[in-house]
Amino acid sequence: MTERDFISQPYSKPVESGTVAWESPSNIALVKYWGKRENQIPENPSVSFTLKNCKTITSLTFSKKESELDFDFEVYLDGEKKDGFKPKIQTFFDRILEYLAFLKNYCFKIETSNTFPHSSGIASSASGISALALCLMSIEKQLNPEIPKEFFNRKASFLARLGSGSACRSIEGGIMVWGKTSAVEGSSDLFAIKYPYKVHENFRSYQDTILLVDKGEKQVSSTVGHNLMHNHPFAKERFRQANQNLEDLKPVLESGDLDTFNRLMEMEALSLHAMMMTSKPYFILMKPNTFKIIRKIWDFKDSTKLPIGFTLDAGANVHVLYPKHQGKTILEFIKNELVAYCENGHYICDEIGFGANQLF
Ligand code: PMV
Repeated sequence: MTERDFISQPYSKPVESGTVAWESPSNIALVKYWGKRENQIPENPSVSFTLKNCKTITSLTFSKKESELDFDFEVYLDGEKKDGFKPKIQTFFDRILEYLAFLKNYCFKIETSNTFPHSSGIASSASGISALALCLMSIEKQLNPEIPKEFFNRKASFLARLGSGSACRSIEGGIMVWGKTSAVEGSSDLFAIKYPYKVHENFRSYQDTILLVDKGEKQVSSTVGHNLMHNHPFAKERFRQANQNLEDLKPVLESGDLDTFNRLMEMEALSLHAMMMTSKPYFILMKPNTFKIIRKIWDFKDSTKLPIGFTLDAGANVHVLYPKHQGKTILEFIKNELVAYCENGHYICDEIGFGANQLF
């Protein structure tokens, strides 16, 4: 498929007004996306677990307007008007206008809320942008009811990507792949697809306990971080490594080999942060407590031989991943030994989920 396939077809049904709503989850990358080309095309493929509990709920009320010159929208977070969110959404609308012919024909009221606290250090862009992309697709479907389900999801992922790269992996569930790789048939730089191969039952209901080490705003945004990969001395090797890790992950997902799974996942997290620490200018997003948690996890793994591993986003928080069948012992360890390193003792229990849901 090419970008052209996502340009709106002529609409077959007039619609004056309405409301649509979706809830869409966050996701956690196992193989990380860090570095992009123009139009949010990733430099390397990535793989993620879709989450279940960390999600954004968005409703979009729309009504036909007279002038088609400009966008017309308002944004509310938890019932409060948020003009501060408008520039980001304006940029998103500018990028997707080419693919959604109706965007300037309606005025919109966007009402959104997150299940996780706003100031938790958890990025809401993946869940927020994917929820909005799905709402927009629901309007397009009202205007063009023939749109098939598979294309609906694909275009929602395509649109979400243009808002925030990793958001394209939040539409569907289980394991998602974004970025062209010969290891995964049907993979694309334009949208994410469901991982199409056999997955071992060890990964069913896989747990992700998110340790909130630092709930503040990130000092360096991911947009800046991606851009620093342009002249990065190790970029080429990093993109090669990500491709290799994705290939290596494939047999692991099939066999359920959790030792290798954890090694690959942790290598990816530390490689991501190594890129940050060696860019120009360099920066560090991990905090002392991030390191203390990692040390504790490794000591616990050494002494118990239990299948526990961690990954990191572009921040200080630690995602602790483990299979459900070991969940009780590992959660006990997390509560007793790791939560003390979280800001105000805060953490979130999440697990692999099934993707976004339409609410109305
Ligand atoms: O989607 P963005 O532009 O916020 O970038 C996300 C980058 C990481 O979260 C660090 C990695 C990933 O693949 O999700």
